[in-house]
Amino acid sequence: MLDAAARVGGSWVGALSRRRVISCIERVEVCLRGGCCAGKRLRQSGTRHTGCESVLARCPLIVPAMNGNAFGEETSDTMLLMELTKLNTTRSDYLGLPDDVKSRTVEGFHGVSDAATTDEEEDRHIVDNSFSVAVGQYMSKQYRKTIVSARDVLRKNDRGGYTVPTDGLYPFQWNWDASFTALGWSTWKPERAWAELHMLFKGQWDDGMIPSIVFHQYDDRYFPGPDTWQSPKVDPPTTGITQPPVVASCARYILQVSQHGDEDVHLRGLRNAYTLFHPILRYHRWFYKARDHKKMGRVSIHHPWESGMDNSPSWDEALEHVSTDNLPNYQRKDLMHVDADERPTQTQYDRFMSLVFSFRDVNYDYAQCAQVSQFQVADTCVNALLLKANKDLAWICAKLISHHKRLSLSLEELEALKSAQRELRELIDLSSRGMDSLWNDELGMYSCYDERMDKLINVPTSSAFLALYARHPDRVRARQLADKLAHWLDQVKYGVPSYDPESPMFDSVRYWRGPVWLVVNWMIAEGLEAYEFFELAERVRRDSRALIKEAGSYEYFDPMTGEGCGGNCFSWTSAIQLFWFPDL
Ligand code: GLC
Repeated sequence: MLDAAARVGGSWVGALSRRRVISCIERVEVCLRGGCCAGKRLRQSGTRHTGCESVLARCPLIVPAMNGNAFGEETSDTMLLMELTKLNTTRSDYLGLPDDVKSRTVEGFHGVSDAATTDEEEDRHIVDNSFSVAVGQYMSKQYRKTIVSARDVLRKNDRGGYTVPTDGLYPFQWNWDASFTALGWSTWKPERAWAELHMLFKGQWDDGMIPSIVFHQYDDRYFPGPDTWQSPKVDPPTTGITQPPVVASCARYILQVSQHGDEDVHLRGLRNAYTLFHPILRYHRWFYKARDHKKMGRVSIHHPWESGMDNSPSWDEALEHVSTDNLPNYQRKDLMHVDADERPTQTQYDRFMSLVFSFRDVNYDYAQCAQVSQFQVADTCVNALLLKANKDLAWICAKLISHHKRLSLSLEELEALKSAQRELRELIDLSSRGMDSLWNDELGMYSCYDERMDKLINVPTSSAFLALYARHPDRVRARQLADKLAHWLDQVKYGVPSYDPESPMFDSVRYWRGPVWLVVNWMIAEGLEAYEFFELAERVRRDSRALIKEAGSYEYFDPMTGEGCGGNCFSWTSAIQLFWFPDL
């Protein structure tokens, strides 16, 4: 029974955490037409497991958590698991489902989905092999429609092994988009998820860097393309800058999900993770080698695009030092696809391009870039995500070590993993110190640091909350961050705004100066849960769900109206939907 529940939970429901339990319970509530309030009680009960019995009595599917909380303590999920082992019966008995439905309740999902050959067959598996079987006729048609349309977005943006963020506006493979998108693929095609990451690593440079964009195929609808970058990496060509390193974390989640699925899927997951392990570690090392200029564990970005939050107000002051005097002529192409009000301004764009040309002039040599870059900022987002990525890579490393026999690793390969494990511990300590130096007392939250001016940047953005996702702050700081976030959420209809909504420069539709981004929401909610701020996590989750449901799969959303902005049919939004809300 336990094994079966874990199988279904691990394969179809996805990552194993408290929110999944809650989301299952919610579905049961719906199926029982509001008959169960235990889910809400569970949510309110915080770390206690009051109400577990009644939840279990109504829930046909329980998903145990593997994570524990941010302090390594047992969570109520673990307690749920213990309760589950005590109950020696199948949940469908409680539901009073017809026998034929009951018998299929705990069927796994993995393996079958990989065997599917056509889109139609894949989609049918949603009905045949997932939880929906358990509740048969009760499952809403709307649910099937939204899950199929989210998959359609990824299929439509699939270019054969890699996924473009959206057709037209972004026609190549982006670094952190690819990692989040892999999470989406992993919900029904684990092999395709790993392929996405392998394709990204085709763009890895000799020095270890993973560039922000890999130009697998030529497309002249985007600027600046390979002809402008002229980077030394040619096959495939790439940009000469990076993006936030989330690949290790996404690989960890994909592997984590697979360990509760089919044996073969798990073994293939381990093999894929092993192939990627050393290249990812080289990528992480590159940050410390090329970007930790003061050797403090605080890595810098040399271009706002490296933050993934291109026009965040955090960059305004530092960008003023970027000269545009010798800027060659160039032609933006983003405005052909999206309204100018929603994009970075021309002045900002000129500075972005000036930086690109200055790196091109020194052939992207990382040591020389450190000399010539007029923009050097330690970004909270990149530093928090690097810290989390090191922790997740260490998690992967431990798994590979414990499965070394199944992987047939040689003694040498095993030793290399053990030494990497020690190195990762050091990198985690180093980055933790770096993150500490980004705490801004004046703001009561983390903020970016201008390395050239040697000062904290007093701009409050949502990237501060990513420290929770990195499981970095102590309880006192975590509480401060949660209070701040709660206050922000009071000012908007839908959270999380990317910038303090009370700031006079807040702009609800302009890119990273106010709008909500779903991938950021997912990470913030994940962090809030780890610190057991369940109500706040639930608010972020509810808002995110509503945005996708009401506006659709947009690039980002207006926090005041919920309207979708930027590109539509956006891969990372659909991917997060599939991974986070398999039941939408
Ligand atoms: C924009 C975003 C960046 C993203 C890219 C592709 O440039 O700011 O974070 O990676 O679009 O979606």
